[in-house]
Amino acid sequence: MRLRDGARVWVCGASSGIGAALVHELAARGCRVAASARRADRLAELAGSARGEVVPLTVDVTDRAAMMAAEGEIRGRFGAIDLAVLNAAYWGQFSVDRWDTDVIRRHFETNVIGMAHGVEAVLADMRRRRGGAIAGMASLAGYRGLPRSEAYGATKAAEINMLESLRIDLRPSGIAVHTICPGFVRTDLTARNTFRMPFMLERSMTRPPSLVPYPGALWPPSRMESTSACVRAKVTAACTSPTPVHRAMSAGRRSMLPFHTRRTRSYAA
Ligand SMILES: NC(=O)c1ccc[n+]([C@@H]2O[C@H](COP(=O)([O-])OP(=O)(O)OC[C@H]3O[C@@H](n4cnc5c(N)ncnc54)[C@H](OP(=O)(O)O)[C@@H]3O)[C@@H](O)[C@H]2O)c1
Repeated sequence: MRLRDGARVWVCGASSGIGAALVHELAARGCRVAASARRADRLAELAGSARGEVVPLTVDVTDRAAMMAAEGEIRGRFGAIDLAVLNAAYWGQFSVDRWDTDVIRRHFETNVIGMAHGVEAVLADMRRRRGGAIAGMASLAGYRGLPRSEAYGATKAAEINMLESLRIDLRPSGIAVHTICPGFVRTDLTARNTFRMPFMLERSMTRPPSLVPYPGALWPPSRMESTSACVRAKVTAACTSPTPVHRAMSAGRRSMLPFHTRRTRSYAA
């Protein structure tokens, strides 16, 4: 999909990291952007520093009624929503030594139920208009189990699955569904991590000479496209051959991922 000037976009989970960077980029490209999250101060700062129209909205994705109300407010202002980027998520390292189902519940409530609330909020009007797009921010962590990721990884696997089904079911209604699966990106979310994060993507990253933009990129040529091209290259590499990602994750800690290394070998063979 190509975003035209004046496209109306709702970014959920916009107060920091990938969401905030996306808001800056979209606003600079002439999109009308609604930026939602819980931290009102961060959103106000974002709206003040963006080079374009950004409407800040304080909304918790776990609050269904608030999500429906937010959609109504954005539609009231913009007329319609062309693209909803469902990006909000919680990540906390899981400990098998202190198994706590509440930690898993918290991840599911924010990541999966939060995404479901976002879909529910935009669906009725998009169906009525027979158009629009939903982009769900999942993760490479959804494809394979990673250490300390019992809670987060399970939610990302659920998101990928939900978005894939949705993509098929909404195609006849003219609604596009995109599943985005980044690898590691340096944000507040990863700042807390104490383990190795191979192939970390930096915000200032420039396009490696070997990477060309892929056809149908979500964003036109720019810094953002170089990011999505990198992400896509990594996703493709990880999907077709998970070996490099998992080998890199376990480098120097060979005992940590015996299952992956074993399965990966037979998978690749
Ligand atoms: N960074 C990575 O390496 C990486 C890799 C793969 C996928 N991802 C995915 O990329 C997305 C963005 O992550 P990030 O790295 O940019 O992390 P981040 O900087 O921590 O951003 C997370 C965003 O989600 C919002 N959020 C969290 N809980 C919320 C709630 N209950 N209601 C509304 N908003 C909520 C946060 O805002 P408030 O706290 O203000 O509500 C924040 O704006 C996530 O879906 C994440 O899973 C990240």
